[in-house]
Amino acid sequence: KYPEKVRIVEVGPRDGLQNETTIVPTQVKIDFINMLSKTGLQSIEITSFVSPKWIPQMADHSEVVRGIDEYEGISYPVLVPNLKGLDAAMAAGVKEVAVFASASESFSKRNINCSINESMSRYRNVIDCALDNNIKVRGYVSCICGCPYEGLVSPQQVSKVVGELYDMGCYEISLGDTIGVGTPGTMRAVLDEVIRKVPTERLAVHCHDTYGQALPNILIALETGISVVDASVAGLGGCPYARGASGNVATEDLVYMLEGMGIETNVDLRLLLHAAKFICKAIGKRTESKVGRAFPAD
Ligand code: HMG
Ligand code: MG
Repeated sequence: KYPEKVRIVEVGPRDGLQNETTIVPTQVKIDFINMLSKTGLQSIEITSFVSPKWIPQMADHSEVVRGIDEYEGISYPVLVPNLKGLDAAMAAGVKEVAVFASASESFSKRNINCSINESMSRYRNVIDCALDNNIKVRGYVSCICGCPYEGLVSPQQVSKVVGELYDMGCYEISLGDTIGVGTPGTMRAVLDEVIRKVPTERLAVHCHDTYGQALPNILIALETGISVVDASVAGLGGCPYARGASGNVATEDLVYMLEGMGIETNVDLRLLLHAAKFICKAIGKRTESKVGRAFPAD
C-alpha cells in the first residue's frame, strides 16, 4: 500500500532560512548545505534567485551556489520567480530550478506580485528557457489546503494550476500546504482531484506543520501513491508572505516515521540531527523536531 522508497527534498536552506530576519552568514549556509549533503539526501533546495528587496536572506544566492561542494547524485535546486532569476541562476551554474505558483489569487499577489494567470505566462517562458538549456524544472503550487487571505481554496482550482505547470514541462509538482491548515480530510480531497490530471509519480507534497497535521497529511499522500516529500531539518521554515505559517515538517521526524514503516529514505538520521543542531545553534533557535528533542545530537 505504501511506497518502498521515499525521496526527501530537503528545503531547510531555502524555506527554512528565508523567514529568518537576521541574515545568516553565507559561510554558515554553505557549511549547513555541505553537512546535509553527507546525510544521504538526494535533493537539497539551497537558495532562491528572488528579489533581495523581497527576501533579503536569499541575496547571497550566487555565492551559496558557487560555494558549496556538489556531490555526485545530489540535485541542488533553487527557486526562480522570473527570467531574471533564471538567468542569474544559470550564470551561477545551477542545473535545476523550481518555479512557484499559487492556487490562491491573493497569495499569488502577495508572494510574487502578480495574478495566477500572469504567473503562468511568466513561468511558461521560464520553463521553456530552462528546458532549452537542459535545466530541470520543478513546480510548486502553494495554498493547496487553504490561503491565509482567502480561506478555503477549491480542489478544482488546485488541480487546474497543478495541471498547467505539469503541461508546461515541470518534471515534478510539489503541492504546498503553505500555512499548514490541511487535515487528512482536506488533503485527501485535494489529492483525489489532482491525481485525475497528473500521475502520482510526478507529484510531491510540501507540508507545513502549523496545526500539527504534517505527518498525517504526508501519510495520506503516501497512501495515494506519492513518494516524494519535502521537509526541513529542525522543522524550520515559513514564508514571510504567508501570515501565520510555521515551519515545514521536520526532516528528522519524517525519516523516523518512514524508517519505522520500513520505507527506505537513504538518509542517516544521526547525521541529519547533527546538521539540525548546527543550524539551530547558528540562528539561535530551538529545534521544532520532536525527534531532535528526544535524541539530542552528539
Ligand atoms: P516585482 O517588484 O513585481 O518585480 O517583484 P519587478 O519585475 O517589478 O522588479 C522590481 C525590482 O526587483 C527590480 O529592481 C528588479 O530588477 C528586481 P529595481 O529596478 O527596483 O532595483 N528583481 C529581481 N532581483 C533579483 N532577482 C530577481 C528579480 N526579479 C526582479 N529574480 C518578484 C516580483 C517575483 C521579483 C518578487 O515578488 C519576489 O522576488 N518574490 C519572491 C517571494 C518569495 O521568495 N517568497 C518565498 C518563496 S515561495 C514559498 O515559500 C512557498 C513554497 O515554500 C511552497 C509552499 O510552502 O507553499 C515554495
Ligand atoms: Mg514552504
